[in-house]
Amino acid sequence: MKAQILKLLRQSADSVSGQELCRQLGVSRTAVWKAMNQLRESGYEIEAVQNKGYRLLKAPDVLSADELASLCCTRWLGKQIYSYPTIDSTNTEGKRLAEEGAEHGSVVVAEVQTAGRGRRGHQWSSPKGAGIWFSLILKPELLPGDAATLTLVAAMAVVKAIGRLPGAQPQIKWPNDVLLSQKKVCGILTEMSAQIDYINYIVTGIGINVRPQAFPEDCAGTATALEQELGALPISRAALLQAVLEEFERYYQQYMQTLDVSLFRQEYHQYLINLDKQVRVLDPKGAYEGIARGINEKGELLVEREGIRTAVNSGEVSVRGIYGYVS
Ligand code: BTN
Repeated sequence: MKAQILKLLRQSADSVSGQELCRQLGVSRTAVWKAMNQLRESGYEIEAVQNKGYRLLKAPDVLSADELASLCCTRWLGKQIYSYPTIDSTNTEGKRLAEEGAEHGSVVVAEVQTAGRGRRGHQWSSPKGAGIWFSLILKPELLPGDAATLTLVAAMAVVKAIGRLPGAQPQIKWPNDVLLSQKKVCGILTEMSAQIDYINYIVTGIGINVRPQAFPEDCAGTATALEQELGALPISRAALLQAVLEEFERYYQQYMQTLDVSLFRQEYHQYLINLDKQVRVLDPKGAYEGIARGINEKGELLVEREGIRTAVNSGEVSVRGIYGYVS
């Protein structure tokens, strides 16, 4: 009910009368009054004026299920939200929940991760309130080999959502990083449980750095946060998360329509920082360098050397000059 109250207050520029809230929610005056008090205790500033009603003045920067549900305008993603003050990793929790039968489209989010995970065994620094640490539980009818493409869908969703912020010009470093001013502001970790020809579930974890933090030494020079790059713009983490969910639904639908990235490939190229840049491919058979010529319809990076293009389908690519490092 608290989410519905918040939604109704948000939808109205004016005050909403207690009577109207009772009518819309089908509850008693006392129930509305109790919910208002609980919302105030959680940090919402709600004005109550006699004979006029309630008006939302200020919302706290929280990622609670109520706050997220009140901002929700998706069709299927995030209808079920698991929100935690602290969790080891939203990806790990996402896997646990998926095993227990959590539905397709569930979202797991936490204020703090005590064991946030990045790719290739790296840690992902996730202090309280500094970012948006969340995972999507997906149960698509895809072949296991296609699952990695969901990382590209997620990257598209994140650049589009960040791009809605004033002054933001985010870019994608294929396949799983989103950058601002050539520094990493978001990382994506897609994990899967599958049989040979069947996906049990996919967990796509997304970490967006919002407020400045003391980054660990190994990424201090290459990581940044939205507010660090965009100035003192106050960013609502909940609204940004909802924007990512909305965009994810859009690109996921496009992907599922064709089972490839053809419907958004050109758009992806507009954001691709690697496009026509030198990249170093860390192939297990031997590293090599070439020029990235964009992605093919499967979402693989096309790397050109001596006029021949090779499709690289893993994330084993490191980019020269982007972070000022070569690896
Ligand atoms: C990377 O760039 O290496 C991927 C980072 C992914 C971090 C996110 S934060 C939410 C989710 N939970 C995790 O433990 N990891 C992902």
